[in-house]
Amino acid sequence: MSFDRMHLLDLESLSREEIIHILDTAESFREISEREIKKVPTLRGFTVVNLFFEDSTRTRISFELAEKRLSADVVNFSKSTSSVQKGESLLDTVENLLAMKMDIIVMRHGASGAPHYLAERVPASVVNAGDGKHEHPTQGLLDMLTMRHHLGDLSGRKVVIVGDILHSRVARSNIHGLTKLGAEVVLSGPPTFIPPKPESLGVSVDYDIGRALKGAHVVNVLRVQKERQEGGLMPSMRAYARDWQVGLKHLELLAPDGIVMHPGPMNRGVEIAQEVADGPRSVILEQVTNGLAVRMAVLYLLSEARKKLERGEIEEKPLEKSEVLA
Ligand code: CP
Repeated sequence: MSFDRMHLLDLESLSREEIIHILDTAESFREISEREIKKVPTLRGFTVVNLFFEDSTRTRISFELAEKRLSADVVNFSKSTSSVQKGESLLDTVENLLAMKMDIIVMRHGASGAPHYLAERVPASVVNAGDGKHEHPTQGLLDMLTMRHHLGDLSGRKVVIVGDILHSRVARSNIHGLTKLGAEVVLSGPPTFIPPKPESLGVSVDYDIGRALKGAHVVNVLRVQKERQEGGLMPSMRAYARDWQVGLKHLELLAPDGIVMHPGPMNRGVEIAQEVADGPRSVILEQVTNGLAVRMAVLYLLSEARKKLERGEIEEKPLEKSEVLA
């Protein structure tokens, strides 16, 4: 199996085999971060720009660390300190960066489809680090890597995603990835937070959180995304916490080996109780550790594909665009 793509834009367009290949590659990169000298020459000669138009802690820092541990030259762009503040467009910004010979662009943007837009127009590889409400593919991959460590093969495992699924790019990437790996995915949350036609995504919905969590191997708790709420979707944070917060009583419902996940940042006391976030079933910080290995794997695989393209061993595949972006 090889990963002959120039970009990582979503999990929807990846095959089950490609996802497993990335996860297997990430396993081999985990060990590098345990070494005394945490550096390998894999990306020597590559220049990577981290282009963040939205705030981030985990994703931005773990991409930067992954790039540095792979010996790439790294530059960071943040919207708030750039000439975007003077009105420069996305494409002009990127063309100026490419004039400085960037090979890989890691991009977070508030608009769904922004990484696709870029990938269609620039010769660099584009990695989606979260685009609007669309996808967050490396988060989906690190979530699956963490699940695999605790549960082994995910086929037939019950994964319940609880919370603000409508606004969540993490949920979308989890759904596409997990259904390809054969997991049973259940969505649970207030009806206003469930996307239309969930059955078309191969998942089921249960509006009773207690029933949904019964026998679950994973509960993936999502943040209420205050910044993406349109009016009237939620009465108040207090009411949300009362009805939908994952608390200690819910843990008793899980399978004996069931784990608690959260992509971060957490609203402690809103979607997740303090004791659950810090409790023995929580693998939330393991997710962060696995994020580094996943991002190293993705950068490595893209750099290998670029080398093959340059040597004429592969041809660039046309980009597939998901229905939600069409
Ligand atoms: N999980 C996640 O995307 O976190 P950040 O927004 O901090 O990158």
